[in-house]
Amino acid sequence: MNIVENIPVFCAIDTPDLDRARALAAAMERAGCGLKLGLEFFNAQGPQGVAEIRRAYEDLPLFLDLKFHDIPNTVAGAVRAVTRLGPAYMNVHASGGTAMMIAAHNAAAEEADKIGLPTPKILGVTLLTSLDEDTLTQVGYRDGLEERVVQLARLTRESGLAGVVCSAREIAAVRGACGPDFVLMGPGIRPVGAAHGDQKRVMTPSEALHAGATHLVIGRPITAAPDPENAARRIMDGLS
Ligand code: C5P
Repeated sequence: MNIVENIPVFCAIDTPDLDRARALAAAMERAGCGLKLGLEFFNAQGPQGVAEIRRAYEDLPLFLDLKFHDIPNTVAGAVRAVTRLGPAYMNVHASGGTAMMIAAHNAAAEEADKIGLPTPKILGVTLLTSLDEDTLTQVGYRDGLEERVVQLARLTRESGLAGVVCSAREIAAVRGACGPDFVLMGPGIRPVGAAHGDQKRVMTPSEALHAGATHLVIGRPITAAPDPENAARRIMDGLS
């Protein structure tokens, strides 16, 4: 296994279908993007589906975006199970708290060591990019959105995780609060002119990288394009 490091773009392969996922993964390999498999694919195809994609595209880094959020013991067990699939990145909700994040971190390190794989980097999910101030008020949060994201990012760093997933709009504030070595994975990325869909806090790919993102998660602007490989290439070419 020789995973290509420093790939800035992870394509969100959000589909329940294995053949469609294979076709998108092949296109992303040609375009030089990493792969993100999330809840839609995992719940339809299970760990076996992830393992198939992993085996076929083993040089591409995989971000397994399952956003665990449960008691520490349960999250540790889930992290141990998916560490065997060899993802480069996986994530848990930062709002699960320090004990949960530490349990996740330790479980990944122990399991990877036991089976001789590189330890996956675990990221804390701060606030979903589909949420805006109104939605946060509805669910009872009183702090401003950026303040809350920064607070959750600090907690993630203090718990020893590698970085966070946060909207590109909060990248600059998180970079300032958490220092230069923290992984900042930004979804909600929309090239100029692309439809926003359900994403509320969006930025273009270059804006997000300039603001301090280390990686970008891009789904529908690539996967819903008539030619996903070409759409991904155009995004990669436009990064500077
Ligand atoms: O299609 P689109 O570019 O909006 O896809 C974004 C992807 O990033 C989706 O797979 C979504 O689950 C994921 N994501 C997100 N917001 C987060 C974490 C992950 O949109 N905070």
